[in-house]
Amino acid sequence: MPADIIVGAQWGDEGKGKIIDVLTGSYDVVVRYQGGANAGHTVIVDNQKYVLHLLPSGILHKGKLNIIGNGVVIELEELIKEIQTLINRGIKITSKNLMISENAHIVLPYHKILDSARETKSGAKKIGTTARGIGPAYTDKYSRTGIRIRDIFDDEKLLNKIEMNLNEKNYILKNYYGLEELSEKEIYQNILKQREYIRPFVGDTIYFLNELLKKNKKILFEGAQGSLLDVDFGTYPYVTSSNPTIGGVMTGSGISYKYINKVIGIAKAYQTRVGSGPFPTEMEKDIQQKIRDIGAEYGATTGRPRSCGWLDLVALKYVVDISGLTEIILTKIDVLSTLKKIKVCIKYEYNGKKTDRFIPDGMELYNVRPVYIELDGWMQDLSKIRTYKKLPVAVKKYVKFIEEYTGIKISKISVGPDRKQIFNKK
Ligand code: GDP
Ligand code: IMO
Ligand code: MG
Repeated sequence: MPADIIVGAQWGDEGKGKIIDVLTGSYDVVVRYQGGANAGHTVIVDNQKYVLHLLPSGILHKGKLNIIGNGVVIELEELIKEIQTLINRGIKITSKNLMISENAHIVLPYHKILDSARETKSGAKKIGTTARGIGPAYTDKYSRTGIRIRDIFDDEKLLNKIEMNLNEKNYILKNYYGLEELSEKEIYQNILKQREYIRPFVGDTIYFLNELLKKNKKILFEGAQGSLLDVDFGTYPYVTSSNPTIGGVMTGSGISYKYINKVIGIAKAYQTRVGSGPFPTEMEKDIQQKIRDIGAEYGATTGRPRSCGWLDLVALKYVVDISGLTEIILTKIDVLSTLKKIKVCIKYEYNGKKTDRFIPDGMELYNVRPVYIELDGWMQDLSKIRTYKKLPVAVKKYVKFIEEYTGIKISKISVGPDRKQIFNKK
């Protein structure tokens, strides 16, 4: 079974980019299967920082193939900018190491404008999106009016689809949001330019991936966002519009479950959230600021400060179930090094009763009160430690507590943003 999967086990930004980069060496191919440029995956190599939004995080390795699957929604301008920026920084990107699914949908200018307009109109009830047009693009996909990569290479089809969409979108923009209408010609002509840039990369990734799997090539699937942002399993409506959990791999790439071996959940030793929605274990303001500063918890895509909270094991255990996690890689444990005591949420109090069930609803989850236990901190810098054996006893106890609660093993521990700051648990 040659396919392994990385999923974010919290509300995103768990350090997936770093882990994918570290693991890429053992795989032939890295595949993004959902989300779009709302993702911001940071990779740090030799003090050089790379933030990837649409390109798979394997792109920095020579000789590895990177695939953007059919489940991703692609903003062409952003993709081209990202490819070009990397090329300018000396990374080789050609049709030999990048392939884009012809069935992926594209994010158009009206998706981004509608995303922002809806947020502004919602006022305090807004979702706090990344304003990358993700919700409106997936809406069009499911209402069967979306434009796919394959459509942009047929002039007449493209023009017809833009016209059909603009008839509706311009009406909404003008009459509901009081905004300017968009020009069909401008959108069309921009795409004509963009398509020449991406043409060499486009292909049938579905057949191609299945052929690779039959040849036993090793494939790593890169989830974006996090399981608690899943449109089906997360804190709806405060979620994204795709499935970052395991199901997204199959619908977003066209491979069968039978090829899947490991499902690796990436979890921070604490957790963060950006945008609106309930966050039961959110820390007290002063500790939160401290953790935000030490952990550099500012959005990789939007620069927004991330809210910080204690590790929520009720939520993590739920994620273990819905994606069938086979192991966890624990990141950012170094960030907790200045705390004397560390809280961990082991139950919720809900409707006057204690429960160990997560409540996947963005309204109801406001009504739970976390029940904590306190574990000892270690008050020691971890960033230079490179073996599990050398970790302070209190860290080992913390790790063991998580393993016992979730019932699965922590396979690696990350103690800093650099490629080298990680080691196996055993
Ligand atoms: P992603 O979206 O899951 O790829 O995560 P982001 O890149 O948005 O955010 C994770 C941040 O934490 C980035 O700035 C990483 O460089 C950084 N990071 C990753 N792992 C570690 C770690 O173990 N310790 C510390 N201190 N930082 C880390
Ligand atoms: P990575 O891949 C953290 C959040 C937004 C907002 C909600 C909906 O870097 O972990 P959207 O723009 O998707 O419609 O926004 O989802 N969100 C993320 N939060 N990490 C991400 O990606 C996110 N992508 C979207 O902040 O709350
Ligand atoms: Mg991120």
